[in-house]
Amino acid sequence: MNFSIDPSLPTVRRGDFPADFRWGCATASFQIEGGAHEGGRGESIWDRFSHTPGKVKNGDNGDVACDHYHRWPQDLDLLQSLGANAYRFSIAWPRIQPTGRGAAVQAGLDFYSRLVDGLLERGLQPWVTLYHWDLPQALQDEGGWMSRDSVARFADYTDIVTRALGDRVKHWITHNEPFCTAFLGHQHGVHAPGVKDLGLAMQVHHHLLLSHGRALPVIRANVPGAQAGITLSLHPISPASDSPADVAAAHRHDGGRNRLFLDPLHGRGYPADVIERLGPFAPRVVAGDLDEIARPCDFLGINYYFPEVVADATHDAGHDPLKDPLATRVVEVHGVERTAFGWPVVPEGLTALLTRVARDYAPPPIYITENGSTFDDVMLPDGTVNDSQRLSYLIRHLAAARDALAAGVPLKGYFAWSLLDNFEWAEGYLRRFGITYVDFQTQQRTLKASGHWYRQFCQDTLPPQA
Ligand code: FCB
Repeated sequence: MNFSIDPSLPTVRRGDFPADFRWGCATASFQIEGGAHEGGRGESIWDRFSHTPGKVKNGDNGDVACDHYHRWPQDLDLLQSLGANAYRFSIAWPRIQPTGRGAAVQAGLDFYSRLVDGLLERGLQPWVTLYHWDLPQALQDEGGWMSRDSVARFADYTDIVTRALGDRVKHWITHNEPFCTAFLGHQHGVHAPGVKDLGLAMQVHHHLLLSHGRALPVIRANVPGAQAGITLSLHPISPASDSPADVAAAHRHDGGRNRLFLDPLHGRGYPADVIERLGPFAPRVVAGDLDEIARPCDFLGINYYFPEVVADATHDAGHDPLKDPLATRVVEVHGVERTAFGWPVVPEGLTALLTRVARDYAPPPIYITENGSTFDDVMLPDGTVNDSQRLSYLIRHLAAARDALAAGVPLKGYFAWSLLDNFEWAEGYLRRFGITYVDFQTQQRTLKASGHWYRQFCQDTLPPQA
């Protein structure tokens, strides 16, 4: 299709990045697979949550989603046609262990085994996320991540999957965005399982990190040459004003958003200032847990979407220290470009975030495991989707990634979120994040302008910019 590029956008080309850089797209099992009742798959917490009235916009659910369970060969062809060299996807735990424990279902393992073979045949390096939020409901019924037993269950599941795929899959991500599981799922209740309890959310947070640490040696034992890490959603945080109260609030907010994850993973334990504020809500930590959590990773995955500007909420009317012990309020900055989700579009935030993480934590290689945007895409009568805002977002964020590289950040890859429009959690099918448009009635896939551009970028055939 023909699309035009705003001449004020930066010029960025694949050739600006190292030759061994990984380029791909990311997806997640529940968001694309469908096939909810096939291959012996058990119920997940997102099946239960999305089928509970009022939890997901328009009552949408993941029963069919993008029907990737049946259409995966076509989806992998699409990825290959982009010129990508990697693909990040997740495994649905309930396809492997329908109740979260016990013997593996062969049909579930076979599905992913075929997918992995399909990737390798197409020259695409598989990047597997073990947990992207679809916990078996049967485990939830026993307490899910709130129960310490979840750590052992996750290690067993990891053992099964890495034994089955580890001969071919070398890149393993234990968890995707523990922040969302812990706090969206257990404090705010807007994600599955819909619990609203800060103390439980903190315990979930701890169990997620512990299960990550427990899984690392399992992966390494089963996978010769394994590269194992975790994916965090991180945000650059700045104060709403120069006032000492806002500056202190921004630091606390950074504690809840970023340091609560980065510090323990890098051997520093939980940040003392955050734990002190949390008081009775602080997680119960057993001797030895922090050592397990701090086991070294081979890479750090970062998902970047937006920064946050933060003010002190201590004196806000109605502020309840029992609900919000950090006492911070995210401030709406006016006049900022936003996605259809309302997330501010700040490409420089990516450079700032990456340089900060590299400076403060000196992680091994960093991969951007997700970055993308949602806009209200329209298919034109000629069958094209000219998503110029997403295209502009993509170009500017790639230029920002290049800036981080130039500043010395050990950045090694970029995965666009997402290959396909998909089930966007509590927003259902309303929010489209794909570089490919999906007609959910016909399941037809149409590459959007951003996808066409990404193809030229990955193939390094972009025409010179005017
Ligand atoms: C991230 C999730 C991913 C997707 C994007 C938009 O938080 O990891 O599944 O929903 O946001």
